[in-house]
Amino acid sequence: MTRGLRKGLTSYGDPGFSLFLRRAFIKAAGFSDDALDRPIVGITNTFSDFNPCHGNVPRLIEAVKRGVMLSGGLPMEFPTISIHESFANPTSMFLRNLMAMDTEEMIRAQPMDAVVLIGGCDKTVPAQLMAAVSADIPAIQLITGPMLAGRHRGEMLGACTDCRRLWGEHRAGAIDQDEIEVVSGRLAPTLGTCMVMGTASTMACLAEALGLALPGTGSIPATHADRIRAAEASGRRAVSLATGGPKPSDILTEAALRNAMVVLQAIGGSTNGLIHLAAIARRRGLRVDLDDFDRIGREVPVLLDLKPSGAHYMEHFHWAGGVPRLMRELRDELALDARTITGSTIGAVVDAAEDVPGQSIIKSRSTPLKASGAMAVLRGNLAPKGAVIKHSAASPTLIQHVGRAVVFDSVEDLTNRIDDPDLEVGASDVLVLRNAGPKGAPGMPEAGYLPIPKKLARSGVKDMVRISDARMSGTAFGTIVLHIAPEAAIGGPLGLVRTGDRIRLDVPERLLELLVDADELQTRAAEWRPPPHLTVEHRGYHGLYLRSVLQADEGCDFDGF
Ligand code: FES
Repeated sequence: MTRGLRKGLTSYGDPGFSLFLRRAFIKAAGFSDDALDRPIVGITNTFSDFNPCHGNVPRLIEAVKRGVMLSGGLPMEFPTISIHESFANPTSMFLRNLMAMDTEEMIRAQPMDAVVLIGGCDKTVPAQLMAAVSADIPAIQLITGPMLAGRHRGEMLGACTDCRRLWGEHRAGAIDQDEIEVVSGRLAPTLGTCMVMGTASTMACLAEALGLALPGTGSIPATHADRIRAAEASGRRAVSLATGGPKPSDILTEAALRNAMVVLQAIGGSTNGLIHLAAIARRRGLRVDLDDFDRIGREVPVLLDLKPSGAHYMEHFHWAGGVPRLMRELRDELALDARTITGSTIGAVVDAAEDVPGQSIIKSRSTPLKASGAMAVLRGNLAPKGAVIKHSAASPTLIQHVGRAVVFDSVEDLTNRIDDPDLEVGASDVLVLRNAGPKGAPGMPEAGYLPIPKKLARSGVKDMVRISDARMSGTAFGTIVLHIAPEAAIGGPLGLVRTGDRIRLDVPERLLELLVDADELQTRAAEWRPPPHLTVEHRGYHGLYLRSVLQADEGCDFDGF
């Protein structure tokens, strides 16, 4: 098999000349013939001044390089897109597929025998795993790692569950402007990713559960020395993979996918994790069956006492034994023979898990944090292709509820009217946001966490039933139905709801229904029109996105990828 610098020669019609030219150019950087004859390990550089979640990437690259060279390989760092949640307009989700394309094509275009993918912020790990599966050369996911938790007024807090909670208190008038400014300096006290069970932590755990990251490395805080050692170990392991595999296609099997779904339910994972998992699986020709996922959630309880479902933070999870220790509790639910990049199996990872005396973060199966899994899949006339609720973070009093719809036609409409003192809304109403799905917004913003209208928040209302075709941050909490598919902007039934209609949410029965008769809905459907931005052609990536993006149940990947 062609390896190293001889791989994927640029086409000049003369392979000998192509290699000669390639060697000539790379020697300009001072490489020796000995170095150039080694197995090559590519290392993605996703450092960006706009991305503090990846602020430790330069040190990780240095350590990966050390590991590669200690094992006799040649490390070659290369840049790719970097996406941070708060610095991505219109949304990071709009850009995830662009990053997957960039990463895949750069892996394919450049000569490397294995690749270490360094990432952490929400969309990065899914984009990198989608790319790795499609490019299908041996790959290791190296997570940048979570931040340490912060403190405010003696309370431990962190990004971004507490961002939302404290901002909600500020909106309700309980925290003044000066204090909220102080809080903004304490929520994210170190480099690294959000340290609650948001999307970044979820994807870090799933990378391990899929067998695509070294065991125990997903939860190491970004600033710990162990994080650097994990990078060195990833570099070492990549050299072995470079010469004998396995490749992502050998690892990402039905069994691995099921393991990831079990872990996603048990960690109280982000709803976004489900979309990303579907997209990664789809790259391998596999499908996340939402009904299977729901069934797993009925059997597998939430075991992890982490915000937003529980009380603690990722550093506590790490010291409690991390993903391997969690998976030991789930042993009977897992496919233990699933392979991992270690060359061994998930069963071996579980057997080697550390027992930490007295830890209380990872609960046992007999005393779980929540009796069932994190998420439920809802169906009904409002969501023919499914919707998701993270019921582990919902109010138990609202999971069976019938209420009057208060409809917002877009994110902009929501922004303009939610705090209008004249808005007719009560605590038992159901807030509806539409045209905020993959095509509608576009980019499926994390707008599904509709704020409680100020006048209700000030009277003490903390949660309401909220439904949308949008996403929400995995760090958020509340009785919130998301990812309604098909979305309103392509003619989904969510587009037919009118203020004053009755909506029924019944999580135990897995139902989301619009209580309007079918004839009336047919009349409304005949009058429905798509939003204006979908009636005109768009150029460039925006155009590609709008033409190609799939619905949430298919992972919002592009059609044809
Ligand atoms: Fe990067 Fe939360 S903003 S992980």
